[in-house]
Amino acid sequence: MERQEKLKINGLDAERNLKGTVYISGAKNAALKAMAGAVLFDGPVELHNVPDTADVRTIVEIMTKLGARIESKDDVLTIDPNTITNTDIDRKLAGNIRASVMLTGPLLARYGKTTFPAPGGCVIGCRPIDLFLNGYRKLGASVVEHDELFDIKDGNFHGGDIFFDKVTVGGTETLVMTATLAKGRTILYNCAMEPEIVNLVEWLNRGGAKISGAGTPTITVDGTAGKLLKPVKYEAIPDRIEAGSYLILGALIAKELEIKDCEPEHLRAVVSILSDAGVKINVDDKAKTIVVSNDNAKNYTPLNDIRTHEYPGFPTDLQAPLTVFATQVNGKSAIFETIYENRFKYVQDLVAMGANIRAISERDVEVNGPTTFKGTSEIFPGMIIPARDIRAGFAIVMAAILAHGESTISNVHLIDRGYEDLAGKLKGLGVELERISN
Ligand code: EPZ
Repeated sequence: MERQEKLKINGLDAERNLKGTVYISGAKNAALKAMAGAVLFDGPVELHNVPDTADVRTIVEIMTKLGARIESKDDVLTIDPNTITNTDIDRKLAGNIRASVMLTGPLLARYGKTTFPAPGGCVIGCRPIDLFLNGYRKLGASVVEHDELFDIKDGNFHGGDIFFDKVTVGGTETLVMTATLAKGRTILYNCAMEPEIVNLVEWLNRGGAKISGAGTPTITVDGTAGKLLKPVKYEAIPDRIEAGSYLILGALIAKELEIKDCEPEHLRAVVSILSDAGVKINVDDKAKTIVVSNDNAKNYTPLNDIRTHEYPGFPTDLQAPLTVFATQVNGKSAIFETIYENRFKYVQDLVAMGANIRAISERDVEVNGPTTFKGTSEIFPGMIIPARDIRAGFAIVMAAILAHGESTISNVHLIDRGYEDLAGKLKGLGVELERISN
């Protein structure tokens, strides 16, 4: 049974004048794919700037069970795929995180077979993997499903044309990795354009892959016909979702918050939305730093018609933190979730803490502000609010920091999946909080 840790947070209420610096970690959603991509290399590869989060540790566990030899020192993971002896992904472990499905592409590319369970991950929607399976079939594999396991084999992969009916980040990354070792040319259409994909492909190409078009909707892969890649060092890009989360929080609670080791280029959408709402933001691309202040908080204007969108649009992973921001501005904001069918579950918790949010549909909310949050202990003694997924968890933490009084948040392990050292970084800003295990 996982240690069920909780966060106890003493809210700032009106004292919203913190000052400090947050150092952004490597991107979870880049590093997890590079860990899977290590399978494509002929020998140990060094992955740098890997965040120490629960998801990374789970993928280490899954890959170790496959036989890979993995060492970790500070933020460097060394993965030797040449000791892999098994391609059946552990059912229980895979059930915890979506990123486990990413491993299937490289395993298929190198060994021509794998079995894996329908992946787990956040409860933000059904998150099928049909686009992955259709892609594998297009490249020559047979896919058989039995007792909730997918058995993929006969993968002496040939190139092919794949059109993604929906833009899929993981599908794009995984099929690119599968095509990397295939015989012949694969062209992938309607691809995702996230910076994590560019980060992955740049590394694969340095190892000898021949992939062009990453960061555009059309990616072309000239497969190596089974020749493994030459081990070269990988470096994860900064985590734009972690940086965006602290940027939104800083806009509410900080006299001055310095966000360092970030990549401002990857944050244009959220910087634009916050600036339009009146937030004071200074971006220094060269110094990889963004400074945000809540000096103008009293005059923030509502967010009219925000719609989450694939990159470079406003990221779905910042939808929950932005909804909390909307509760603090004067007037009515509208937020629409385009990517997932059920990513507003946390709204009920914000309403319980005092927010005025109306669900128009499962994908559409109307937020009326400003409202004040009550700490859970002010609502009723002993009340605990759960983190419902990684990003919703950060949103509840934001509400607790803004609140009057103390709050207790459970399921902290979900937040740990995506935010390295959350408690340490928040304490460093002056937030009064502590992690407690029951
Ligand atoms: C990645 O998930 C991220 N996770 C998610 O971040 C992020 O929300 C998402 O991209 C969108 O930006 C990782 O990178 C590990 P998708 P992914 O495939 O790849 C549907 C976080 O908080 N779809 O782009 O799984 C799917 O249901 C997490 O860090 C299919 O229908 O997302 C969704 O509605 C949460 N069939 C849409 O496409 C498929 O085969 C986009 O999903 C695959 C996806």
